[in-house]
Order: sequence, then structure tokens, then C-alpha cells
Amino acid sequence: MKFYTEDGNWDLVGNNLGVFFIRDAIKFPDVIHALKPDPVTFEQQPRRIFDFMSQTPECMHMLVNLFSPRGIPADYRHMQGFGVNTYKWVNTEGETKLVKYHWMPKQGVRSMTEEDAANVQADGLGHATKDLYEAVGRGEYPEWELLVQMMDDHDHPELDFDPLDDTKTWPERDFPPKPVGRMVLDRMPADFFAENEQISFGTGVLVDGLDFSDDKMLVGRTFSYSDTQRHRVGPNYLQLPVNRPRHVDVRTNQRDGQMTYVVDAAGENPSVNYEPSITGGLREGAYPTHDEQGPEIRGRLTRARIERANDYQQAGQRYLLLQDWERDDLVKNFTDLISQCDRAVQERMVWHFLLVENDLGRRVGEGLGIMPEDVAHLEPLPGQSLTEEDRKRLASLGDNPPRDVEGLTMTHCVPDTRHVVTR
Ligand code: HEM
Repeated sequence: MKFYTEDGNWDLVGNNLGVFFIRDAIKFPDVIHALKPDPVTFEQQPRRIFDFMSQTPECMHMLVNLFSPRGIPADYRHMQGFGVNTYKWVNTEGETKLVKYHWMPKQGVRSMTEEDAANVQADGLGHATKDLYEAVGRGEYPEWELLVQMMDDHDHPELDFDPLDDTKTWPERDFPPKPVGRMVLDRMPADFFAENEQISFGTGVLVDGLDFSDDKMLVGRTFSYSDTQRHRVGPNYLQLPVNRPRHVDVRTNQRDGQMTYVVDAAGENPSVNYEPSITGGLREGAYPTHDEQGPEIRGRLTRARIERANDYQQAGQRYLLLQDWERDDLVKNFTDLISQCDRAVQERMVWHFLLVENDLGRRVGEGLGIMPEDVAHLEPLPGQSLTEEDRKRLASLGDNPPRDVEGLTMTHCVPDTRHVVTR
């Protein structure tokens, strides 16, 4: 989402699922490579995907969402949107809050099973874009509500997860989503390439008051997007009409380079493209906020993994909160895909799933012909940190009771209607 505000542009670069595979940006190329085609055969292969995932316990929450029908929205109009990472709001006093953003479609949420999606694709590609053009053309303008969850800006030692961990959602009973805005899509681009292909989003495209947090995935993303766009679109991608601010003049000494479009005469003296100067160049703007911002932080900087990994709990809760048809499709998809993997990967995935939720592990295991006894001997992965609860579950793998999800509402927990497609 690109907001052309009177203070410059603000991008909210999100996803249709509320969590992500990994929590450390350094692993991003690996997760993408595992999901992309094999570099030799150029075939996308479940055996490569689950090879990586089986060694990455933090991805369990994402997998439970992704391979359920929530991973295949019926179309854009019925799709939720999530900022996923934790951002930061700053007020004029320099006080900060941690926030997460969610978009809810007023049209309701609709998703497809793998079979529905295969039937749609048999008929042509790009069905979701077509649906959007046609709906807007008919004057049926889709709407989304923007909600935020807020937390005080500190470590929250009382929580069993890290607030800056993008593999986690914030329980809604503790952090109730508050509506802050509404988006109505009432027009489609006049030129797809100029306005869609060349639009460039980035998590560092921010206005004062809407900041990113110390979430290290988000910090990695913030470097990565503009780096890519200078290569993908060109060094002056920010000068393209779709990317430049619309409601404010850009005054900067960053200029020139290939495809320069703007004749930069922003200052009184066009020869001065540095600051400070006494001969009429641009002057630095008023400093927008307090020098001191947010809480005082003292600590040791490290490269260590976060302590509260807790990789299975929310994945298990989410599994139990899925609707029956979603759960059935999830189990079917896991079984179909993981059956194409090497035996060692299959066993490790069943081991993870039994720790996520007994029923999930047993059902996928049954489909693969792998019983809890077959995997009970597996040691935790090297460097893997288990919670007390995980260790208890491991001790009685295959016999654990369901987790307690009474009264729990997680992100995503709105009804999902199946969009049935037959051929
Ligand atoms: C460390 C993790 C991540 C890195 C390094 C990363 C990096 C990138 C890069 C380089 C692009 C291509 C940008 C372009 O060519 O314009 C991209 C696209 C995108 N990413 Fe990420 N990403 C990460 C995680 C995420 C997450 C967690 C989300 C969702 C919240 C996300 C959402 C998107 C979206 C929606 C696009 C398409 C943007 C467009 O159409 O221009 N990414 N990402």
C-alpha cells in the first residue's frame, strides 16, 4: 500500500498471511531459494522446500497458514492483508508504541482449496487481477478496514514470545485490534506497466511518526527493498510519477545518475548541491521530532538468536483454530507434498508436527506411513531451543492432549468461506 501523504510517501509492504517463515533477515535468500525452482532442473520441488523447512522450526506457524486454504485467497477482494513485522509509532513528545497492522476486507474472507485453485488455473492465469478489474468496472468498489494492535515499547518479559518476532501474532484478547482507517479501491491503473510494474515499495519509505522497530527482519527488509529497486527499476526509480510524492515537493541534494528525469533547481542557487552553504543552496529542514525517542535502552549488542523462540505453540493454536474444511485441506496438502520428499525429511516434518499439535502430527504421519514411534528417537535439531512445554510434549510424543485455545483469538481468526471451483 502506498500512501501519498502531505509529508511524503508512506509504504506499508505486507502479505496475505500474518506471519513469516523466518525471523532473521540473513536467512531470506535461503528461504526464497528453497521455494524457487531447482537451479539445475528449474522445477519447483517439495523435496527442496521441505528440506529447508524441516531444518527451520521457526517456520511452523507460517506453514500451518500457508498450506491451508488461507494460503490461496479466492481473489484480491476477499483477501486479508498484514504488515507482519512490528512497527513503531512516535508521537510529538517522542513517546513510542509498538504496532502491527492488519487489513480486513469488508467483503469477507474467501479462500480456495488446492483443487479449487487447480481448476481456476486450468481455465487461465491472472484470475484475481481479472476479478478486480471487472468488479471495479461494475462499480463494486472493494473496501478494507485498517486495524492496529498496539503494545508499550519494551521487551515484555511477561509474554512467552518476543514482540519483535515476525513468526508470532499478538493474541487479540491482550492486544485488541483498533480500527484506524478505511480503504476503498475505486479505480484501477490506467497503464499496468507504468503504475504497477514500476511501482516500488519499501519498508523504509516512511513519514515522521510512523517508524520501523528494532525487529531485525524488518531492519533487513528496510535495506533490501531500495537496493533491489535501484537494480530492478533503475537508480532514479523514485522520480517516476508512481513513486514520487504527490502532495509535497521533494527537495534533496541526492541527484543525477542514469535516467535522471527531474531538472533539479530546488534551491535558490542551482549550482549548490551540498549543505550547508552560504550561497543559497537548500537548507536542512526543521528537525521533526525529539532527539530522545522511545525508551532508554541499555544492553549488550549480540548476533545471538532471540531467546523466546517458542516455535510450536502458536502454530498449534492456529491449527486448532482453523475451520474443519481448512484443517482437512492443510493435512491433505502436507501429506501430498511431503510424500514427495526424502524419508529423513518426512520423518523430521512429522516430528515437528507432533510437537505443533498431536492431531496434526498423527494425521500427516498416517498419510505418510510414519508413526510417532518411528520418530521418537530424533534429537532436537542442532542449536534448537525448546520450551519447557516442548520438552514435555517431546517426552510423550504422539500422546499429547490438544492445546487449550478456549477464548483465544489470533490474527486471521475471521470466518473463511470456501470459494468452490469445479470444471
Ligand atoms: C528479510 C526478509 C525480507 C526481505 C529481505 C525482502 C525483500 C524483498 C525484495 C528485495 C523484494 C522485491 C522488491 C522490488 O523489486 O520492488 C520484495 C518484494 C516484496 N516483499 Fe519482501 N522481503 C522480506 C520479507 C517480506 C515480508 C515479511 C513480507 C510481508 C510482510 C514481504 C512482502 C513483500 C511484498 C508484498 C513484495 C512485493 C512488492 C512489490 O510488488 O513491489 N516481504 N521483498
